[in-house]
Amino acid sequence: MALSSDKKPAQVETTGHVWDGDLREYNNPLPRWWLWAFYASIVFAVVYWIMYPAWPVFKTFTPGVSTLTIEQDGKMVEVPWNSRNLFIQEMQTSPSAVRQREFVDKVSNASFDQILADPSMMAFARSMGSGLFGGNCAACHGQGGQGNLPSYPSLADNDWLWGSSFTTISHDIEKGLKGNMPGFPTIQGAALTDLANHVLSLSGIAVDAASATRGKAGFAVCAACHGAEAKGNPMLGAPNLTDMGWSNIDVVGAPTVDAKRAMIEGVISKGIQRQMPAFTNRLTPVEIKMLTVYVHELSGGK
Ligand code: HEC
Ligand code: HEC
Repeated sequence: MALSSDKKPAQVETTGHVWDGDLREYNNPLPRWWLWAFYASIVFAVVYWIMYPAWPVFKTFTPGVSTLTIEQDGKMVEVPWNSRNLFIQEMQTSPSAVRQREFVDKVSNASFDQILADPSMMAFARSMGSGLFGGNCAACHGQGGQGNLPSYPSLADNDWLWGSSFTTISHDIEKGLKGNMPGFPTIQGAALTDLANHVLSLSGIAVDAASATRGKAGFAVCAACHGAEAKGNPMLGAPNLTDMGWSNIDVVGAPTVDAKRAMIEGVISKGIQRQMPAFTNRLTPVEIKMLTVYVHELSGGK
């Protein structure tokens, strides 16, 4: 072979081991460049372990001494460098994140009237509100707030149990709601039919007029909450029964007058118990504010 021709075997140091009488092992040093690269990679690894997250330690890992600054709970804090914190930092400092934060601050410090008067704040509250609604409210109230009777009222009509003012809506979201009408199982037979016909007639639905007239007296027990004129009482969450807006029973969708009356009779007999959870601990005040603007607008902003 070419290699062995110019170097005599005797000139190269061997390890001294001999097999089969004459088989020896050369002891050639490693190439210098290779050794330096090897040492350099060791030094690099040690520096890397010290700087960056490296070794698993039980359930955690060595965090490294390298840090970056992110915002946590409104304060700037130094945290260990790792790709998760790097991602958080990027989310906080990217141009769109910075713009978003400016708007959140602006909305946070503005009154509802100021937000309404400012198209850019309105657009922001609308788009944030829509996202928050999808994540927190749509499961019950439907994607567009159309509701799902009898369990969940529509927020997209202009019919309110508790009232449509900004302060009321934001209070509803913050504290949650308990809708409660007692059942009247003792009202039965003709008295029940007559009263239900009277309630339908309040909304101008054509019913047996004589029966509706007979049912009028029975409404006295209902007036305590729904008012003598049946216009409702937002303090109690008792709806207006004269406006054809229905938040519990889908009277409009019921195909026949008998079906409509059966729905009213069901409410009178069984009453209504509904609940909406409080969101104080799940949403920040500014999130509730943006949702309030969004929900208020869903129903036409009146
Ligand atoms: C678990 C189901 C549920 C979720 C989630 C929910 N709601 Fe409700 N919501 C209800 C129920 C039930 C009522 C009716 C309360 C009553 O009968 O008085 C209601 C009523 C309301 C009302 C009052 C409507 C009126 O006519 O006065 C508003 C406003 C409202 N919800 C907004 C929201 C918003 C905004 C969210 C999301 C942050 C939300 N809700 C999430 C169940 C829910
Ligand atoms: C103690 C107060 C109270 C009394 C008394 C009461 N209601 Fe109600 N009623 C309510 C409340 C509150 C609601 C709404 C419940 C909810 O949405 O969670 C309601 C809802 C209704 C609804 C459903 C309306 C809709 O928009 O879907 C009808 C119909 C109704 N009441 C009829 C009556 C009649 C008829 C009587 C008399 C027999 C009566 N109520 C007595 C409090 C009362």
